[in-house]
Amino acid sequence: MNDIITLSQKADALEEKMARELDYIVVKSRIYQLAEGDMGPPTNPAEARKKNPDAKVLMGDDPRLPAMPEKPTLMDFFKYRFGPSMHLLQSARHAVKGGLPEKMVLACLLHDISTAGFIRGDHGYWGAQLVEPYVDPEVTWAIRAHQVLRFYPDEDVGYEYPQSYITGFGADYAPDPYIQDDYKRMRNHKWYMSGRMITVHDIYSFDPSVHVELEEFEDVIGRHFKQPEEGLGFDNSPVAHMWRAMIRPAKYL
Ligand SMILES: [Fe+2]
Ligand SMILES: [Fe+2]
Repeated sequence: MNDIITLSQKADALEEKMARELDYIVVKSRIYQLAEGDMGPPTNPAEARKKNPDAKVLMGDDPRLPAMPEKPTLMDFFKYRFGPSMHLLQSARHAVKGGLPEKMVLACLLHDISTAGFIRGDHGYWGAQLVEPYVDPEVTWAIRAHQVLRFYPDEDVGYEYPQSYITGFGADYAPDPYIQDDYKRMRNHKWYMSGRMITVHDIYSFDPSVHVELEEFEDVIGRHFKQPEEGLGFDNSPVAHMWRAMIRPAKYL
């Protein structure tokens, strides 16, 4: 018998082990499956229950994740949901040093919250949408634009095409057509320079010795981010469900 265990067998075994050990059943969203290159069917709760008859399908808080307050603030998402955010904090401090107005410091602080907490592809568009009800329209516009402007140099402000893109994507990489189209629109927009400023302060070379605390920006957030009283995710805004998706990313329905 072939004793080589394939990666997918390993994953199945791990899932089974988890189902036995947890008293709840996790069914991954399709998008998580697709991100693994997995075109198979989702976990069948009835099948999973055979191994663990008392288990319930996860519909509430996920015990594997830190508990969120009932009325979560933006700061809570930084603390309990976003991955390491030093890039955002360093960008925001860089923006302060560059003399940017406060609302643009906030834009720098938030420009990559989608990669930090939600989804990577098109992160500028997703990130802008996440914050749209709570910030100045120029901040939203700039966050969306940084996604596009990142790919285009602007010598007037000393912004070069990132070396890391050449290394990471290849020298012959060209942005997708929708990015190219958006660039044409954004280049002539009245807020072009705001989007451009995010790219200027979007520093890719981190100084590991520089540590920035989120609290440094608490006042800026307080003044320029309209924190909903009910908490992010529970304010009946058009994007509330997106914040809830981060609170309970494995909720079954
Ligand atoms: Fe970004
Ligand atoms: Fe960034």
